Amino acid sequence: MKISIYIATAANGLISNSRNVPDWLSPEYGQGMYAISQKFKAVIMGKTTYNIIAPDYLPLKDEGTTVVLTTDETAKSDNPTITFTNDSPAEIKQILEYKGHTEAVIIGGTMTISQFMNAGLVDEIYFIVEPVLFDNGLPLLKDVVGEFKLKLLDVSKLNNNTVQLHYLIQKTNNL
Ligand SMILES: NC(=O)c1ccc[n+]([C@@H]2O[C@H](COP(=O)([O-])OP(=O)(O)OC[C@H]3O[C@@H](n4cnc5c(N)ncnc54)[C@H](OP(=O)(O)O)[C@@H]3O)[C@@H](O)[C@H]2O)c1
Repeated sequence: MKISIYIATAANGLISNSRNVPDWLSPEYGQGMYAISQKFKAVIMGKTTYNIIAPDYLPLKDEGTTVVLTTDETAKSDNPTITFTNDSPAEIKQILEYKGHTEAVIIGGTMTISQFMNAGLVDEIYFIVEPVLFDNGLPLLKDVVGEFKLKLLDVSKLNNNTVQLHYLIQKTNNL
């Protein structure tokens, strides 16, 4: 199966600001995240991201599979697409394939993206580059080993100030 990342970044690459308030995200980012989730019908996120968007902004409501990584065995949701798990990225991929999914999208955050990148399981990445610069905040990757070469598949302008970059992840050089 193909796994993609869909993530908004500041123009200098950070995925959240130090205030941790998502007021810099364009409506086009939200629409795009919703559209790719609806298209793939399989969404992966970490519990911190889930806590920010649930329940109202979860992209899948009644059809498909939403995988939320957490160690909290008591976590519960009224959303029927949600599965809470502490499985590894490889196990999550297997479970999604077993359920018949051929594509899945990771929507955040850093910890979740980094584990899938370290496992070599990410095929494509969409950056939605927003017109802001942050002094500090969260990077896209943390504790990821090696470097990744990318091939540009597409560039699109989402509004006057926001650009979407779509890359294929070509190979890993484990340093
Ligand atoms: N720019 C964007 O498009 C975008 C999108 C989404 C999020 N974000 C930002 O990203 C930030 C959140 O990222 P984050 O890296 O802090 O968190 P995250 O990846 O969203 O979630 C981390 C949490 O997921 C659980 N988890 C992760 N790996 C696990 C594993 N192997 N097994 C079991 N549980 C696991 C843990 O939850 P438990 O503590 O429950 O075990 C962990 O605390 C927020 O600031 C948010 O604003 C940005």
